[in-house]
Amino acid sequence: MTADLSTAYMGLQLPHPIIAAACPLTGDLDMLRRLEDAGVAAAVLPSLFEEQIEHDEMENHRFRETYAEAFAEAMTYFPEMDEYNSGLDKYLDHIQAAKASVSIPVIASLNGSTPGGWVRYATRLQEAGADALELNVYLVAQDSQKTADDIERHYLELVRMVKEAISIPLSVKIGPYFSSMPNFASRLFDAGADGMVIFNRYLYPDINLDTREFTTELTLTTSDDMRVPLRWIGILRGELLSASLAATSGINTTSDIVKMLLVGADVTMIAGVLYKKGPEVVSELITGLRSWLEEREYESVRQMKGSMCARFAAYRPAYDRANYMEMLVNFAAPDV
Ligand SMILES: Cc1cc2nc3c(=O)[nH]c(=O)nc-3n(C[C@H](O)[C@H](O)[C@H](O)COP(=O)(O)O)c2cc1C
Repeated sequence: MTADLSTAYMGLQLPHPIIAAACPLTGDLDMLRRLEDAGVAAAVLPSLFEEQIEHDEMENHRFRETYAEAFAEAMTYFPEMDEYNSGLDKYLDHIQAAKASVSIPVIASLNGSTPGGWVRYATRLQEAGADALELNVYLVAQDSQKTADDIERHYLELVRMVKEAISIPLSVKIGPYFSSMPNFASRLFDAGADGMVIFNRYLYPDINLDTREFTTELTLTTSDDMRVPLRWIGILRGELLSASLAATSGINTTSDIVKMLLVGADVTMIAGVLYKKGPEVVSELITGLRSWLEEREYESVRQMKGSMCARFAAYRPAYDRANYMEMLVNFAAPDV
């Protein structure tokens, strides 16, 4: 019997749970087609950044002011020139081109941190044809006067604002650093999120000691990077039974995908492995997932999804402090 790999994510019915994560590969039409040919279930486009939108808005404003002094009567034409030749325009064009080129769902991505005017541009991404929107909130809290509650409210306000601007499904991609992840997650859903992407991979600066400058090199993940999202998806699935949860960070192999599904992910999002092995790796991952299920006589992804989440007593200890004591006892120190 062939295992049924289908899954649902924020109302999108997908043939299997492997999605191309937000990254420049999906911003390239040829690559997007190759991903579709390899069988990817959906694709998240690279993010449009708050800074890009704000920058374009400022440029347009300056352009209007200068021009209007000479040709006051021409002011009425300017609204049509808004965002001319901007990052935003290119992004909207790409959504349209992507929708025309592939038939898989295309998820647009907005990346920002402040609840400002840029948020209303979410409407434009929907109008351009995006099937859903992923909001990546990348906020580094550095102000000692701001409490955890202030920061969380800030996220929630952003989610509410974006949700008001669109009617397509909205997912929120966040990092792992919250004092009470389950509580915050449930408030994100209350604020209007239809799904969560767990987790955003934060990039940290390093220092070049020769030049004493900060460097920002992006390194690709390994399967070890999966453990943080693995644990939290397992806990969240236990608490939020019907929430749409996407796993990302460190998913490199079929085994990684299976593990994320076992703890309760609805879909898995991959980026690094696409860079390492090319888009064609997707078909290997799909075949691998099917074989894994069939060899163990699972009928479907749905049947195994969440079967190892934290709700079940047998698995609870692994989530509680990750069996900390046991790990320490079993640790075999390398010979030095
Ligand atoms: C080159 C590169 C660019 C990325 N750009 C974005 C982006 O624009 N927006 C975003 O939300 N995530 C971005 N990501 C993060 C990925 O979507 C993904 O969440 C992360 O890489 C973890 O998945 P992985 O372990 O499969 O690489 C990027 C990742 C890579 C490798």
